[in-house]
Amino acid sequence: MARKPVIAGNWKMFKTVSETVRYFDEFKPLVADADHCEILLCTPSPTLTSAVDTVRGTAIQIGSQNHYWESEGAFTGEISAPMVKATGCSHALVGHSERRQYFGETDATVLKRTKSALAEGLTPVVCVGETLEERESNNTETVLATQFLGGLGALTTDEFSRIIIAYEPVWAIGTGRTATPEMADEAHRFIRQQAADQFGSELADSVRILYGGSVKPGNCNSLMACENIDGGLVGGASLKPEEFAKIVHFADQPA
Ligand code: PGA
Repeated sequence: MARKPVIAGNWKMFKTVSETVRYFDEFKPLVADADHCEILLCTPSPTLTSAVDTVRGTAIQIGSQNHYWESEGAFTGEISAPMVKATGCSHALVGHSERRQYFGETDATVLKRTKSALAEGLTPVVCVGETLEERESNNTETVLATQFLGGLGALTTDEFSRIIIAYEPVWAIGTGRTATPEMADEAHRFIRQQAADQFGSELADSVRILYGGSVKPGNCNSLMACENIDGGLVGGASLKPEEFAKIVHFADQPA
């Protein structure tokens, strides 16, 4: 089944409002003709409104990086899915490994965040992935199965049909160490099998699974060529318009 690729950027805690506007002014013409994939940028909360305004009229989509699962309330410092939706965002990144590592995100809270995003009509991009220690002790599949069942596995079939999954091995994030295409494809195949077991083969065939972890213009072609890889979630290389545009165009040039 043909799955439209998604090339997503995760800016993490980089860029102010003025830097955001400048970025998109440069980026928009570079990807104006790219209709072979969906383009998504997950930008910091204070920049969401200006990012949405700046890309209006283009195919570029904007997403948040994290939100709290309650709609409103006394939760100082948090933002809610309705607030994200009101900025004009279409997507919400959920369960990024930096949230899991540094901010106490668990499979249970990933599920709550995913459901609250879906309730607002946002498309969650839900991240899973193992640490280096887990991979080296041959526990990758156990970890992925636990994360899948503890988070995504509890969604309804309808909810599952509206999400995107990102496989991001923690050891490959920001380290310059990318999973080989074979390793990544194997993990994606395993996640797709989990999805098939839980939700049936039709939904498993249609869910997009993005690879994340040191994706660059120089390695994206071989990753994207894999059968089970439906796009990328790109951190560092999404910060420069030219570099990210090359990835959008699946350019194969050394970074
Ligand atoms: P990276 O980050 O591309 O800088 O490794 C990926 C991510 O954290 O989403």
